[in-house]
Amino acid sequence: MNTEFADRIKRLPPYLFAEIEKQIKEKKAAGVDLISLSIGDPDLPPPKIVLDTLKEETANPKNHNYSFSQGEPDFRAAVTEWYKKRFGVDLAQDQVVALLGSKEGIANVARAFVNPGDNVLVPDPAYPVYANGSTILCDGIPVAMPLLEKNGFKPDFNGVKAKKAKMMFLNYPNNPTAATVDKAFLKEAVDFARDNNNILCYDNAYSEISYDSYKAPSILEIDGAMDCAIEFHSLSKTFNMTGDRIGFAVGCKQLVTGLTKVKSQIDSGLPVYTQKVAVKALGAYKSAEPPEFLRKNNQIMQERRDLLVNTLCDIGFPCEKPKATFYVWVNCKGSSMEFAAKLLNVGVAVTPGVGFGEHGEGYARITFTQPKERIAEACERIRNLYK
Ligand SMILES: Cc1ncc(COP(=O)(O)O)c(C=O)c1O
Repeated sequence: MNTEFADRIKRLPPYLFAEIEKQIKEKKAAGVDLISLSIGDPDLPPPKIVLDTLKEETANPKNHNYSFSQGEPDFRAAVTEWYKKRFGVDLAQDQVVALLGSKEGIANVARAFVNPGDNVLVPDPAYPVYANGSTILCDGIPVAMPLLEKNGFKPDFNGVKAKKAKMMFLNYPNNPTAATVDKAFLKEAVDFARDNNNILCYDNAYSEISYDSYKAPSILEIDGAMDCAIEFHSLSKTFNMTGDRIGFAVGCKQLVTGLTKVKSQIDSGLPVYTQKVAVKALGAYKSAEPPEFLRKNNQIMQERRDLLVNTLCDIGFPCEKPKATFYVWVNCKGSSMEFAAKLLNVGVAVTPGVGFGEHGEGYARITFTQPKERIAEACERIRNLYK
């Protein structure tokens, strides 16, 4: 069959990461001992409470029927309780929608609000779904907001070109730059969105992966956000459950309702058993402080971060210790594709920054989702390359 793809598929930019994955596979097939510091998939196991609850709940035949599109009532209640404990934010249950991972919600929210030709503000560099799966697949037009090092990898709202855009995506703690923000910045973002009638989609997938006593805020803590913002969360990174596909969106009721309407026409809800797991996992928070297993998890990540950053600085690639996420954003002093290719030749996979947008050029994203020994080995290989 030789049928043309729809125009919106043709407008998708080439998926650079697919090319990198191909090269990684080839190296592995050739027997290279490859150390992958390129993917945002935690290597640590889900906490015991998740594994135990999953076993119990999948064994219950009642948990294998269709569930509510918006999410089971006990799941939505658990989300509202978590928001109150973690952020001090009050939410009603109809301000919560369950997602098959936050990526799904990020893609589908545009279907509810973006008309063909509408501008959508997307950070650059950024998680590619904002521009592609969300905007382009809804025939919208992505308008880049550069995230520059001199601005702490935050957008300069005064310089935004399409102020009257329909929607704006923001993501902190940030992938790929690992930048974090404070509430003063979030207030600026909410004021900008309200002044310009933008729907503010705030991706907070990494809120719980933080170090050095940094605590990521929610956009919903800001006055006025409830009128213009929807916040996306994920259990993927917080509880090492990337493959279980569960997340949620909360906030402005009209935005949550729009997203729910789209989802009710596309999917038929999340498995009940993953929602039951989420109820237990979120319920492990007794206050704003993370539960014991998460503190331990973040402690392991922090040690890896320190090892990676200290060694990269020593080799001659100065970089910051991120306060959150499991990414280090390194100035690679030239073409990011060439840098990644050079490292791949010695069996270390990293992600070229240009894959996240043109303003990612000159940087590489290096993850610390590998045990310390593997990070140390990767650093040795990089040191040998640059000595
Ligand atoms: C910034 C950001 N948002 C959202 C996601 C999606 O996470 P999930 O769909 O697993 O919830 C990711 C995954 O890497 C991410 O980096």
